Amino acid sequence: MGSNMGFDFANPNASAPAKGAGLSAEQQERMARNKAEALKRKAEREATAAGVGREASSPTAGGGGAGLGGGAGDGALVATLQEFFGYSKFRHEQRDVCEAVLSGRDVCVFWATGSGKSLCYQIPAFHLEKTVLVVSPLISLMNDQVTTINNKVDLGDRASKWQGRPLPPATFLGTAGNAGHEEPALQGLFRLVYVTPEKVASGDFLKRLGALARQGKVALIAIDEAHCVSQWGPDFRPSFFDLKQIRDELPTVPLMALTATAVPRVKQDIQSILQFQDPFVSIGSFDRPNLKISVHRKISMSTDLMKLVDTLLGDPSGSTLVYVPTIKETEQVARFLSDKLPTVSVRFYHGSLALDERDNTHTQFLSGEARIVVATQAFGMGIDKPDIRRVVHYGAPKTFEEYYQQIGRAGRDGGPAVCDMYCADNDFSKYDQEFYTGKLSDTAKAAVKESTSALRAFANNHEGCRRLSILTFFREVPTWGERCGTCDTCLRQKVLSSYVCIYTYTHTHTHTLSITQSHIFIYTYVCIRVRR
Ligand SMILES: Nc1ncnc2c1ncn2[C@@H]1O[C@H](COP(=O)(O)OP(=O)(O)OP(=O)(O)O)[C@@H](O)[C@H]1O
Ligand SMILES: [Mg+2]
Ligand SMILES: [Zn+2]
Repeated sequence: MGSNMGFDFANPNASAPAKGAGLSAEQQERMARNKAEALKRKAEREATAAGVGREASSPTAGGGGAGLGGGAGDGALVATLQEFFGYSKFRHEQRDVCEAVLSGRDVCVFWATGSGKSLCYQIPAFHLEKTVLVVSPLISLMNDQVTTINNKVDLGDRASKWQGRPLPPATFLGTAGNAGHEEPALQGLFRLVYVTPEKVASGDFLKRLGALARQGKVALIAIDEAHCVSQWGPDFRPSFFDLKQIRDELPTVPLMALTATAVPRVKQDIQSILQFQDPFVSIGSFDRPNLKISVHRKISMSTDLMKLVDTLLGDPSGSTLVYVPTIKETEQVARFLSDKLPTVSVRFYHGSLALDERDNTHTQFLSGEARIVVATQAFGMGIDKPDIRRVVHYGAPKTFEEYYQQIGRAGRDGGPAVCDMYCADNDFSKYDQEFYTGKLSDTAKAAVKESTSALRAFANNHEGCRRLSILTFFREVPTWGERCGTCDTCLRQKVLSSYVCIYTYTHTHTHTLSITQSHIFIYTYVCIRVRR
């Protein structure tokens, strides 16, 4: 599959994997151990590795990887990718990130939504045949990844057995349903163990994980959606901050932090809170070129949503996610859409539904059985369905990061997708209330306010380029200049400049063309319609 994620590794050498210098004794030990194992596996897998390689850089790529290049484990890593995931090529720095892990380094992965960050921690688990612990903030996200992996990967004879039965390669801990998996997980019998940060902090979990690491059975601890660690980010969670204990309990295990929504100070904060040592930092562009982003002023529910209904009647392909700010609105909007689209299955999703109801909706959405889901932000970060063609916001999300995460669900197969937000300025006013920020520390409150204001300015600006505004928020300078050419404001601007151009030409040639002013207007109008 070709990548269309608009990577721009503008700074690929942010921190290249080193080969020993400046590393602690623990890191060097890790590195030597992993290298020996990687070499062993390379020999085993070399035969199957022939003829496959790294995915070609996209036209926007700024120079490829900064890693070990053709070093140890290269062909073998590709063989692992192919054997377990069925992909023939790595995307951009995926391979460099995996190699950094194999060499025992801590790693930061700051790439756009949908760019393939998960593979960076999944590959080492299968490659090294050891446990990778993945800390994730959402049950739905863990469920999604565990189901996908277990459906995709068949370990056959290599599957670990527990009480006489083969275990799947991945599990998640933190719910009563999977309680029976905790013991085998802590004995290193799963390749991937997904946990909530609360689980990590509970009982003697971390101590037992430390014991497993001392037996050399833990390859990596990955902290997904790592922006939740930082109080400078609006998604701060105290339970993520407590993950700082991991380094003390497991000093020899490499850590990986991954996120698509971090401004520079959050990126820094993540590294210092988690006590990263000489990390390999991979920074990709947060731009999503295949998203056509528009913001509309809210008129009324029926007027606004009828546009979506008309679109879906005309083009029923793909799935649609509609985000609303409150639980009540999920049901209202879902009812409205069901009434207008009786042949389409519409579901709603919010945090107050029972876990099995949420799971059902999630599964039906992923399978395509439910074509439209109307959700609160509870259905967001990390959800991976390739063919979401539309993300609609009916009402404003609370922060810029939340908005970016939610539109990031669209077009993950690289195909075109539409992101429409309908909002009114007073949608934002309520976010100042205690209800939304009451429990937060002063720092977190300030971060939320700053982000809400940025989103409000974005929504009220009907002239500036949307994609440029998003990148500017993340302090990134796009390679394409001031205008993306695909968002609502860029398209309007194109139409306007055509109008000016045609008007100027015809006006100055009125005499020779023997036409009147009204001809000019009619002609201009027709030209613009044709151009659109
Ligand atoms: N090398 C690859 N070749 C083909 N497809 C890939 C490759 N790497 C990842 N993908 C696919 O890309 C999709 C998005 O990946 P993933 O869910 O890891 O994105 P992400 O970066 O974690 O996004 P988010 O920040 O939204 O969570 C997945 O369906 C995954 O299978
Ligand atoms: Mg992800
Ligand atoms: Zn634009």
